[in-house]
Amino acid sequence: MASCLCRYRQRILFFCSPCILLLPVYIYVSISLCYVMKHGPPGAHVVHSVLPTRFTASGLKHSRDLAPHPAKSFWRSELDSSALWNNIQFETDLQYNPILRPHLAANASSVSYNTGVGCSPNYEINNIMHDYTNLPNQMKNFVTTMHCRDYPLLIDPLDVCDPQAKKWPLILLMAIKTQTANFDNREAIRETWGRSGKIKTRGGKQRLVRRVFLLGKSEDLHIEEKLHLESEKYGDIIQWDFIDTFFNLTLKDVLFWDWFSRRCPHAHFIFKGDDDVFVRTPAVLDYVLAEAANRSFSNGSRQANKMETFVVGDVISNAAPIRFNGTKYYIPESFYEGLYPTYPGGGGVLYSGSLAHRLLEVSQRVHLFPIDDVYLGMCLQRLGVYPIHHPALLTFDFPKDEAKEPCANHTMLLVHKRSPAEMFQLWTETSTPSPECRNAMLRVKPRPD
Ligand SMILES: *[C@@H]1O[C@H](CO)[C@@H](O)[C@H](O)[C@H]1NC(C)=O
Ligand SMILES: *[C@@H]1O[C@H](CO)[C@@H](O)[C@H](O)[C@H]1NC(C)=O
Ligand SMILES: *[C@@H]1O[C@H](CO)[C@@H](O)[C@H](O)[C@H]1NC(C)=O
Ligand SMILES: *[C@@H]1O[C@H](CO)[C@@H](O)[C@H](O)[C@H]1NC(C)=O
Ligand SMILES: *[C@@H]1O[C@H](CO)[C@@H](O)[C@H](O)[C@H]1NC(C)=O
Ligand SMILES: *[C@@H]1O[C@H](CO)[C@@H](O)[C@H](O)[C@H]1NC(C)=O
Repeated sequence: MASCLCRYRQRILFFCSPCILLLPVYIYVSISLCYVMKHGPPGAHVVHSVLPTRFTASGLKHSRDLAPHPAKSFWRSELDSSALWNNIQFETDLQYNPILRPHLAANASSVSYNTGVGCSPNYEINNIMHDYTNLPNQMKNFVTTMHCRDYPLLIDPLDVCDPQAKKWPLILLMAIKTQTANFDNREAIRETWGRSGKIKTRGGKQRLVRRVFLLGKSEDLHIEEKLHLESEKYGDIIQWDFIDTFFNLTLKDVLFWDWFSRRCPHAHFIFKGDDDVFVRTPAVLDYVLAEAANRSFSNGSRQANKMETFVVGDVISNAAPIRFNGTKYYIPESFYEGLYPTYPGGGGVLYSGSLAHRLLEVSQRVHLFPIDDVYLGMCLQRLGVYPIHHPALLTFDFPKDEAKEPCANHTMLLVHKRSPAEMFQLWTETSTPSPECRNAMLRVKPRPD
């Protein structure tokens, strides 16, 4: 037995001496850890004592010079206005404030409307707006139905977009606001700038373009019948079950974004415009393709992200509501106060398909506004997206002297206002440019004002 121990003594010593040597180190580490867990890292208590009055985010450098915290919150906590839209939107914006309620802000789909009256007119508004009885009829109609936007489709074309067509992706979807009676405008558009199919860009490439017309319903049953025949013939009519009035135009945008997300979600770009404009579609294709190429790097993987903020138009800033009772744009103080946000004029605007999906989402927490292009500006503002101004989108036509220049018609992407006859003329002229106008560049001049 003894000889046995002797035999192993050397080995036991060999293995245990490091353990005995490490014991003080182990004790030191344990005690330090306990201290730190109780008191925090050295110096931390200094920051602690100043936190209630000043706050700084932790950074890489340990510095005693803390950044001052803002004196007030970034958002207003009260509204100094009695205007109807400002008030209901203020409540909604507060509810979806991304700092106060990040969870809700990320989930726009859960928004519900402020009244529980469904789609029947809400005459309670009468008690909220002090001057309701003096409002023009279109304003009265608007405020009593502005809580409603779920109007069903009456005509829903199914074959506009083919999701299977991998080889020919849809580059441009043209969504044109029109009214039932405007048969001639639609006919001219179909044969000129709104042609559906493979369109040759000015650079000579073929790209797929599709067209839809956006309509509400008219009260004239005879022309409604004609519209159904037209729809059967061309399959390019989208119609919803609301009365097609000026103050209902915003519904066409909101409902189109919804239609787009279900029927045509892969289109790369959308042109949204009126039926009394002329568009130089081949040049528009070149323009959007160049924008897409410029914004994409590392071969496409970042492209979708960069296109999410793409919207270009004739951008209007610091516009004030028109307070003159008697124009169709009249917006009373009791409905809206303040300037309008920056917005692209509604005659013609180009944006990416990915932005359209975001617009659908954010529009669910922006109350309807009677003027459609201002409403787009309100949605963009809440997305933090700034529209790009392009001087070749002439929603106020050419400046007078410039219209006479021989190549003027080859320098624009869009011009308002043009009759059906002028559309045919312009299409012929711009499709076969004379030699001196063949290389005309897009105009870059700002508006004269
Ligand atoms: C968003 O809201 C819907 C409906 O209230 C809910 O079903 C869904 O779980 C929510 N999603 C998130 C991410 O919170
Ligand atoms: C505005 O004009 C309408 C008629 O279009 C009139 O009935 C109304 O009283 C006017 N309102 C105001 C505030 O002047
Ligand atoms: C918009 O359409 C709805 C449904 O047809 C109608 O009740 C409402 O009066 C219209 N609004 C305006 C401002 O014309
Ligand atoms: C690409 O975009 C950048 C910044 O947006 C701009 O400065 C540049 O001119 C563009 N290039 C082309 C070829 O469009
Ligand atoms: C990106 O695509 C272009 C052609 O579209 C190609 O020439 C280039 O090599 C590609 N770059 C990378 C990093 O894959
Ligand atoms: C440009 O188009 C308009 C029609 O919109 C036409 O009247 C005019 O003659 C055209 N300009 C030229 C130089 O052809």
